[in-house]
Formats: sequence, C-alpha cells, structure tokens
Amino acid sequence: MPLLLAIMASGRGSNAKAILEAIEQGKLDAKVQCVISNMPHAPVLTMADNFGVPTFCIFHQGLSRENHETQVLNVLKDYQIDYLVLAGYMRLMTPTFLSAFHAKNHYRIINIHPALLPAFPGAHGYEDAFQYGVKISGVTVHFVDEGIDTGPILMQESFPRLDDDTLETFKSRGLALEHVIYPKALQLLAQNRVRFIPHSKTGRVHVEVKAHAVC
Ligand code: GRF
Repeated sequence: MPLLLAIMASGRGSNAKAILEAIEQGKLDAKVQCVISNMPHAPVLTMADNFGVPTFCIFHQGLSRENHETQVLNVLKDYQIDYLVLAGYMRLMTPTFLSAFHAKNHYRIINIHPALLPAFPGAHGYEDAFQYGVKISGVTVHFVDEGIDTGPILMQESFPRLDDDTLETFKSRGLALEHVIYPKALQLLAQNRVRFIPHSKTGRVHVEVKAHAVC
C-alpha cells in the first residue's frame, strides 16, 4: 500500500513536482491524493493537474485563519491521508489544525525548510543564511509543531557556499538539494522506518530512522 499524501503549497511547486516525479520514477512508494493551494493561479496547481492529481484552491484572503483551515480540512476529509506535506506553504497553522493530524508523539505534517535548522528559521532561509555569511548551509525536512520551523528533524543535507556564489546560485544549489531530499525523506515514512522518541532529559521529540521497518 503506497503512502497516501496530500500536498499544500502556495506557489511555484518545484518540490511538489519533485515528489510527483519521484513517485512516477518508482523512487517513492506514495500516492498524492490531492494538492491544495491558498493562492489562486499558483503554478503548483497547473503542475499537479498535469500529473492528474485533484487540485483545490482555497484562497485565504478575507477569511479568518480558523475559517480557512476549516475549509482545508473539509477538502481533506474526502481523502485518506497518511501525511500532509507542506511544500512552500507560506502560512502558519493553528494548534487546532495541527491537532487534527497529530497524536501524542506522532507527527503527520511535514515540511521542507531552506536552511540548516535550527539556524535561520522563518520565511527567508536562503536569504538570511546568505546574508549572514555562512560557509555551509543546507536544507531540512522536519515535522511541523506549533513553533516556527521548530519541529522534530527527519533529514538534513548541507551544501557549501562558494566564494563566487551570488544569492541566486546559492539558492539554486540549495533548491536542487531540496528536490533530492524531500522524496528521500518521504520514502523513509513509506518504508515505515521513522520513530518519534521523546528525549529523556529535555522531552523534545527526536526522530529515529531505523534500518528496517518499525513493527
Ligand atoms: C522552498 O525553498 C522550500 O524550502 C520553502 O519554500 C520554497 C518552495 O519552493 N519552504 P517550491 O514552491 O517547492 O518551488
């Protein structure tokens, strides 16, 4: 049985595309049940439509956060979904929305962030890391909790900032890495190799990846 996913995205959708391509290429044992955007005309909608995936736009403007989320949940309830995948979804979620997916120590919303968390959280990871002058940056796949990019980390990869990098070359090297690690991280979930372990001292949930499926 493939891992059943819903994707939420606000814009371009290059990560959503990488996920759909990985599925087509047999590298990711998953099925994308639907794609939801909060932005009308987001390129991700046309892209997903071309893959034959049902798409929905729920424009947030003029709606309270709660009302918007209720409408999103209303779409999602028609699909069986194991994980909700955020791929450039530029909105924070309320604890009520998160609780529709999370159980104690089991997170079911996942995100990709364009920096090596916990460094440079927020909406401008590449810009912030580049402007800071880091020599090494990276990308992070993490589960979503109530904070801003603070949830348990599933996978990270680093990349160097080269001396002749511009922000554009720096970003495009990072984005290429995102497209590799997001499908890889999801495949760990598809293989049931991910476990959430509360750290004995801090209580913070860590993610353990098993060599074999977790029974
Ligand atoms: C990516 O850089 C991702 O890390 C961040 O938003 C961007 C989305 O890009 N969260 P795309 O829409 O997947 O092309």
